[in-house]
Amino acid sequence: MHYLITGGSGFIGSHLAEALLKEGHRVTVLDDLSTGKITNVEHLESNDQFRLLVGSVTDRNLVFEAVHACDRVFHLASAVGVKLIMERPVETIDTIVTGTQVVLEQANRYRKPLLLTSTSEVYGKSTAVPFVEDGDRLEGPTTKHRWAYACAKALDEFLAMAYWKSSSLPVVVTRLFNTVGPRQTGQYGMVIPNFVAQALKGEPLVIHGDGQQSRCFCHVLDIVQGLISLMDCPAARGQVVNLGSTEEVTIRDLAARVIEVTQSKSEIRQVSYESIYGEGFEDMLRRVPSIDKAASLVGWKPTRDLRQILTAVAEELKSEELKSK
Ligand SMILES: NC(=O)c1ccc[n+]([C@@H]2O[C@H](COP(=O)([O-])OP(=O)(O)OC[C@H]3O[C@@H](n4cnc5c(N)ncnc54)[C@H](O)[C@@H]3O)[C@@H](O)[C@H]2O)c1
Repeated sequence: MHYLITGGSGFIGSHLAEALLKEGHRVTVLDDLSTGKITNVEHLESNDQFRLLVGSVTDRNLVFEAVHACDRVFHLASAVGVKLIMERPVETIDTIVTGTQVVLEQANRYRKPLLLTSTSEVYGKSTAVPFVEDGDRLEGPTTKHRWAYACAKALDEFLAMAYWKSSSLPVVVTRLFNTVGPRQTGQYGMVIPNFVAQALKGEPLVIHGDGQQSRCFCHVLDIVQGLISLMDCPAARGQVVNLGSTEEVTIRDLAARVIEVTQSKSEIRQVSYESIYGEGFEDMLRRVPSIDKAASLVGWKPTRDLRQILTAVAEELKSEELKSK
């Protein structure tokens, strides 16, 4: 099978590319390298089943050729994370909305099955525990730009579902919850790589707000397995499916666990959301997925716990530091 992975030089996409190549498939990555890195995929370049196309998913001609040549599409390319969306408000919406529109249009034209990665952010401020795929969403006002990420990704979901309903294009929407592991960069505000880097340098671990907000972190290799299984599952077509861990941890406890795993002498420091994101920033207290649907469709559940994740991230950062010396 020949897979196209948009955003395949990114954190999750590069692990997905690696897994598909290992299974004996052909992989073409289309990535503009905006947040993705060439170093994420350079070890794959010697494999003659792998090809990297550098360009944007908003480039209709490029997407047209790439989709035409493949059998199936994993559409991961996106501006990712609230910090990036706050910093680059216009181009991030364009990538998420226009990029997905172009990729879906071409997938439909050539009838190529497609899996879209959406996000738990679409549940917004809903206080439901756990989040179930067909539960209500609750988003903040358009004057608070952090909601643009959730809205744009929700629009992608609507469009994917519209192609499924109107022309039976085989699409699966996956809502990923916090995904972590080797190769994730802390540059755009992702909490685990930041905490681990701070702990290894002996710097304070910086918590936003009081640290009582909790999250569930899933290892990227578990997520990749879920994505591949759902792409292969005919019953998942036309469905929205959560993928994430159900192991919940408060951000304050996470900081303490990172300090323990890295045996760091760092302290924990608290800063206000406003000092990082500006006035009126809104965040969610809890974000726990129901993963019953993924379990019943493909028997998926995470296999790695938080300790294994923190150890893997710490090992990667330590070996990078050794290499740079
Ligand atoms: N990491 C998480 O915790 C998480 C959580 C929820 C959803 N997701 C979703 O998973 C997908 C992958 O995210 P990730 O964590 O690997 O982030 P990432 O930033 O590492 O990957 C995104 C990739 O898309 C590429 N890209 C961005 N704009 C592009 C464009 N216009 N054309 C082509 N490529 C473009 C980037 O260069 C990058 O390689 C995204 O769709 C994201 O919304 C991730």
